[in-house]
Amino acid sequence: MVNLTVNGVQHQLDVEADTPLLWVVRDELKLKGTKFGCGMAQCGACTVHLDGQPIRSCVTSLGSLDGRSITTIEGISAPGDQYHAVQQAWIDEQVPQCGYCQSGQIMAAVALLERSPAPTDEEIDSAMSGNVCRCGMYARIRKAIHRAAKSLPNNEQPLPMEDGEVSNG
Ligand code: FES
Ligand code: FES
Repeated sequence: MVNLTVNGVQHQLDVEADTPLLWVVRDELKLKGTKFGCGMAQCGACTVHLDGQPIRSCVTSLGSLDGRSITTIEGISAPGDQYHAVQQAWIDEQVPQCGYCQSGQIMAAVALLERSPAPTDEEIDSAMSGNVCRCGMYARIRKAIHRAAKSLPNNEQPLPMEDGEVSNG
């Protein structure tokens, strides 16, 4: 039996200890937001957080997590089921195309902003380099991370105006 807290809920899981966390999340707990891409730690589609750090759930065994706490894409919403700032920025910048990589991209971005609330382009590119987007939405991902960073409570600054937009201030 493995004890694992997922999105704040404790579970006792009667699953083989060498089962990848990704299968546990998707098949045992029915949390389907975390995706299977490569299965070998190469694409980032399966990214979840372990104590706030991004990990590849496809290559993390359940047994290694006994007594630990993870967060999946389903667990990052703000209180009252509001979108997380990163999710809102993803919507505002219309980041997803096919969408397949996006859960992992968002989890990587949330972890980045938690350790670096106002990242530079270089920090973003470095932090996100392990998350592959087959649709090539990297420019929008970077833009959305900057947008999310500006919306964080201690970071609020006006966003750059779009062409034709008139300032109220
Ligand atoms: S599915 Fe885990 S890194 Fe690709
Ligand atoms: S949006 Fe299609 S793989 Fe990233």
